Amino acid sequence: MAETPAAPDRDAIAAAIATPPAAPASGAREQGGFRDPAFTANRNAPVHRWAPWIAGYSKHFVEDALARHATAPSVVLDPFAGVGATLVEADLAGHEAIGFEINPYAAFASRVKLQAHHADARALRCAIDDFEAFGRTVESAGVAPRSAPPSGFRTRTPFYSAKVLHKVLLALDFIDTLAEPLVRDIFMLAFAATMVDYSNYSYEPSLGRKAAVGRPNVVDSPVFDTLAAKVRQMADDVEWHRATRAQPERPDGRLLVESFFDGYRNLPAGSVDLIVTSPPYLNNYHYNRNTRPHLYWLGFCTTPDELKRLEDLNFGAYWQNARELDAVELSPAVSAPPIQEAIAAVRAKNPDRGIYGGNGWANYAARYFNDCGRFVEGMRWCLRKDGTALVVVGNSILQGVSVPTDEFLALIAKRNGLRVAAIHTPRDTRVGSSIVNSRVPGSGRLYESVVEIHA
Ligand SMILES: C[S@@+](CC[C@H](N)C(=O)[O-])C[C@H]1O[C@@H](n2cnc3c(N)ncnc32)[C@H](O)[C@@H]1O
Repeated sequence: MAETPAAPDRDAIAAAIATPPAAPASGAREQGGFRDPAFTANRNAPVHRWAPWIAGYSKHFVEDALARHATAPSVVLDPFAGVGATLVEADLAGHEAIGFEINPYAAFASRVKLQAHHADARALRCAIDDFEAFGRTVESAGVAPRSAPPSGFRTRTPFYSAKVLHKVLLALDFIDTLAEPLVRDIFMLAFAATMVDYSNYSYEPSLGRKAAVGRPNVVDSPVFDTLAAKVRQMADDVEWHRATRAQPERPDGRLLVESFFDGYRNLPAGSVDLIVTSPPYLNNYHYNRNTRPHLYWLGFCTTPDELKRLEDLNFGAYWQNARELDAVELSPAVSAPPIQEAIAAVRAKNPDRGIYGGNGWANYAARYFNDCGRFVEGMRWCLRKDGTALVVVGNSILQGVSVPTDEFLALIAKRNGLRVAAIHTPRDTRVGSSIVNSRVPGSGRLYESVVEIHA
């Protein structure tokens, strides 16, 4: 039977965060002059289209953010950079871009995109011609590949069919011969961006077997053609990037492959003008498991322990790591009554369901909000006086309990000495399978907000 979600007292939240103009806890949300942050818009945008990222946001949103909040050359930070939408846009517009990212594959994608203007499009196109010629020769001659699949990468169903695997390994043999590091990196990124398409897996939106969602396995696929087409598109974008990037002599944007929580104190205090970011949502989306093929096949990860290390570093960690713990406490920095109440409501749900009941989800949420506290501390360290942070975040529904993550983040920011100017809602319905374990049909609406915070 459908159940009304237990919502924390919204008036109490509004009273707690109210700073004119008030964050609209009552539902009177404004679009705020931002275009839809959904990543889909990046699928056709030069350079952004190099690597899809399921939880990325659109270049248009970043353009709007920069146009409104970085009118002079600025230092722009993304503490949770993903595949670099903020960094690429900020760098193109002439700002100093700095990002943190724990996932080495996402960090690699960001770094290659930020370096696009250094690549030689002509050399890239020559390499594509050689690649295609190599493919034609080795495929017809039945050559045995020298490359091998990553030994630590295990899957329930073979990731590639025998025919596809043969072609993939031959393609990697060719990439291995490329002497110019950036040309090689661009080919590797093309492989990473397409590798799941010709595998027996797909994103639904988590990585799973095609067969499990009624799709056929991939027996054969024109791997060389797919890769050549992808790199050809990237060569066009290299030219575009070089022609478009403001003040070409400037240093490149920087990407630091470490947790923001460990690294932010290495930035000079008060040195950042604008933060544009989207931390992981409270939806248990597993960035690291979902990029296992990329992490293993590109050599960023060789054992499950390395993957586990990334899980522990992840903002909020994961429900799987919290479900067996006794009650996780909220830290003093975040322990506001509305947050306590929401977590208590989740904890009280389904006690008979053991690790699948409310306690595990409440633990995960408590860790998540504790990390919101660390994030706020990081913002306070990095932002200059009157600097701005625009934080894109989606709400959650846990075990049928509505959790307004955006409002809670605003509350935590306010409690810890930052000003909350507004909560904008450029996208008021979010689709997807993010209602984690709510088990309650129709238990509320998912939306996405931009929390505007000032130092
Ligand atoms: C919502 S995604 C960001 C997507 C990004 N805006 C884009 O458009 O590509 C959140 C990212 O935060 C990263 N992340 C999680 N915990 C982190 C941490 N402690 N420090 C830095 N990055 C982290 C995840 O790996 C993920 O790529």
